[in-house]
Amino acid sequence: MIIREMTAGDVPAIAELERICFGDPWSENSIAKELNNRLSYWLVAEIDSRIAGYVGTQSVLDMTDMMNIAVSPDFRRQGVAEALMTSLINELSCRGMIGLMLEVRVSNTPAIGLYEKLGFTVAGRRPNYYRNPREDALIMRKELT
Ligand SMILES: CC(C)(COP(=O)(O)OP(=O)(O)OC[C@H]1O[C@@H](n2cnc3c(N)ncnc32)[C@H](O)[C@@H]1OP(=O)(O)O)[C@@H](O)C(=O)NCCC(=O)NCCS
Repeated sequence: MIIREMTAGDVPAIAELERICFGDPWSENSIAKELNNRLSYWLVAEIDSRIAGYVGTQSVLDMTDMMNIAVSPDFRRQGVAEALMTSLINELSCRGMIGLMLEVRVSNTPAIGLYEKLGFTVAGRRPNYYRNPREDALIMRKELT
């Protein structure tokens, strides 16, 4: 498995995973715009020349918001998400970020399990944050210093 920064060539595969994994997916256009956003940092996991997963973030001052993470159903439970997030956390720490925040559906047991394993704690709850279907979000946070 190779973990590397997203390039323009990865955008169609990431958009396809967005459609498979989420009820409210990012479009190819929105993902491509991230390539030119200096606040954004996206990583992909490549296995046998396929995009197995990705993680997308934006940082403002010394706080980073993790906007999305997904792993292809073909590659789940093989440590891909953990490898992506470990690389992400190392790089953000090197860049001097002090905190990593994210929202997750309250019913998303796999993702919550991933974040707890990596040391995130629940910082709050946003009622009716998600559409398709409507659901509360947990806000989770990890200190990076
Ligand atoms: C959540 C997701 C990214 C996890 O990806 P993954 O590559 O399968 O996860 P990993 O193999 O790296 O698992 C790391 C840890 O996460 C937790 N985890 C992952 N899948 C889990 C599951 N189905 N049930 C419970 N815990 C799970 C476990 O703690 C696991 O550690 P372990 O294998 O030692 O038990 C993947 O299920 C996914 O893409 N889901 C759909 C998109 C999504 O919900 N994204 C999150 C939006 S906030």
